[in-house]
Amino acid sequence: MRLIAPSILAAEKNKLKEEIRLAELSGADYLHVDIMDGKFVPETTWDFSFYQKIRSFNPLFHDVHIMVEKPWIVGPLFAKAGADNVTFHLEACQDEKQVRETISLIKKEGAKASISIKPNTPIEDVFPYLDDVYLVLVMSVEPGLGGQKFIPSSLKKIEGLKKRKGDKEFPLIEVDGGINEETGPACFASGADILVSGSYLFSHPDFKKRLEGLKG
Ligand code: DX5
Ligand code: ZN
Repeated sequence: MRLIAPSILAAEKNKLKEEIRLAELSGADYLHVDIMDGKFVPETTWDFSFYQKIRSFNPLFHDVHIMVEKPWIVGPLFAKAGADNVTFHLEACQDEKQVRETISLIKKEGAKASISIKPNTPIEDVFPYLDDVYLVLVMSVEPGLGGQKFIPSSLKKIEGLKKRKGDKEFPLIEVDGGINEETGPACFASGADILVSGSYLFSHPDFKKRLEGLKG
């Protein structure tokens, strides 16, 4: 599968509605929405009520990436507000029980549940949950900021996950951070299904061309 999920973190904040429409008209498969709480990562983005507004803008599949503490509380809230998928960080949970509880609480609110890992977390750490999640998000930069440089060792993690997954369709493999015309194709070649891309796509007059180029 080759899907593109533009990240609205890089969109112009004062014309978010138009930017999201641009993503939709350019053929985006998912809309990637980054939620940061200023604790799990230093930055803060949209709060819950603003997210509800974003949700009302468009019919795209919302791929909501929560970089927050206590995802077992925050995750279900975003699911309830209409996220199609909620991806939380494995590092925000204390143990396996908490991870499983978070997955189940998100699903209970009607969304797909997924797990993300930071660059220094080994890919093997997600293996116990592969049958229970919609996708695994491999962070190819430290979470928290757009416009960073892709960490090349992420490709090995994608390959390791693809190998472990074998012929199964799920979980999908998503990669986020530093995706451009060079790193994107390398990720697909390593086994990724979904590329998240922020600064490479937004604020460029050739958004559609870039998106189509990434799709290959
Ligand atoms: C970073 C976010 C990303 C970010 C990617 O923590 O999770 O989704 O928007 O931005 P680029 O594509 O600019 O690296
Ligand atoms: Zn993200």
